[in-house]
Amino acid sequence: MNPDQASKVSGASFERAIALFRTQFQAEPRWVSHAPGRVNLIGEHIDYNDGFVLPAAIDRRLSIAARPTASEEIRIFSEQEDSIETFDLKQPFQARKNWTDYITGVFWEWIKRNATPCGLELCIASDVPLGAGLSSSAALEVATATLLEDAWHLALSPTEKALACQSVEANYVGMPCGIMDQFIVSLGKKDHLLLIDCQTNTHELVPTRGAFPTLLIINSNVRHALTDGGYAARRRQCDEALAVIGERSWRNVTLEALEKNKSELSKVHYQRARHVVSEIDRTQQAVKAIQERNMEQLGKLLYTSHDSLRHDYDVSCVELDWIIDRLQSLGTCAGIWGGRITGGGFGGCAVALVEPDAVSTARDHIQAAYHETFGIQPDFFITHPSGGCECVNVDIP
Ligand code: GLA
Repeated sequence: MNPDQASKVSGASFERAIALFRTQFQAEPRWVSHAPGRVNLIGEHIDYNDGFVLPAAIDRRLSIAARPTASEEIRIFSEQEDSIETFDLKQPFQARKNWTDYITGVFWEWIKRNATPCGLELCIASDVPLGAGLSSSAALEVATATLLEDAWHLALSPTEKALACQSVEANYVGMPCGIMDQFIVSLGKKDHLLLIDCQTNTHELVPTRGAFPTLLIINSNVRHALTDGGYAARRRQCDEALAVIGERSWRNVTLEALEKNKSELSKVHYQRARHVVSEIDRTQQAVKAIQERNMEQLGKLLYTSHDSLRHDYDVSCVELDWIIDRLQSLGTCAGIWGGRITGGGFGGCAVALVEPDAVSTARDHIQAAYHETFGIQPDFFITHPSGGCECVNVDIP
């Protein structure tokens, strides 16, 4: 967004998307589709390994204001870019290897499913930080899909929509992700975590109201890029390890069975496998701890998960390890129950479970020292489990 526009537009992404739409297209939008980012509490890198994951939709959202047009063009403006990107509906959609792929991939998917395309103008504003492990890409995909349900008259169930968007990310964008992000963005519910069984693609809501302290997100501001190959490499190593163990699903593998196969696996394959098997177990234990309101136990599980991602799965970074070590040394007597890296890793955010009055303690002990150590300003925000994606008709007759 250029500075002139920035000074004229304020408020949350919903209002900004509408205001920017008016400036860019000199017209009123008909819809605003708005999707949350997500934070994963526990169950990391196991959605593509038949595991359980436990994310929440967050109260920072991405919004797309849109209207249909009589032309055969799609015109897209984003507040983070300066120019309008144009696509011809008469030509097949092709990835441009930039941010528009998350949107045009959904157009491509909807055309494959025989939707009824029409010209569109779209304007995007977002409060989900980019490349921070909070699923800004899934938010963009699911917001586009939810818009097209109205605009191109092809509605799917929330689960089908999530699977369609995951297919876009894997087959059009080229990032071989699991199902977690698109599921939670589509199915998130206020005051709930979502326990997703990634073997059966089924889910269960886990209430947090009254059971749960505050979720504090600490953005290391180390940008992650999951398309660099580290993510795909982990996925491949897990498949290879499973083949050596001779099972079809990680759900059938116990730590004992893994130990028996240890000599057949390389050190790296063994470590990846140990993360997967132990994280599947930790996620189930975490649900139990929430149901029993045992925050001490839940906090320990978060720290153990972080250690496993740091040493066995090797997807953390020094900056996030530093943040988690700090939280741990402040400890439960400061009101800090636990924390871990969240999302795909290689940078991004930490999630911490803290008492409301411990937020400022955590910030005070991390902010200045982190900046001094790494020369980067971290960001802090509290988040609450929120609702999934919605498309609102804002066309006032
Ligand atoms: C990314 C992927 C998800 C999941 C996480 C790691 O966010 O999109 O499918 O694998 O990484 O848990």
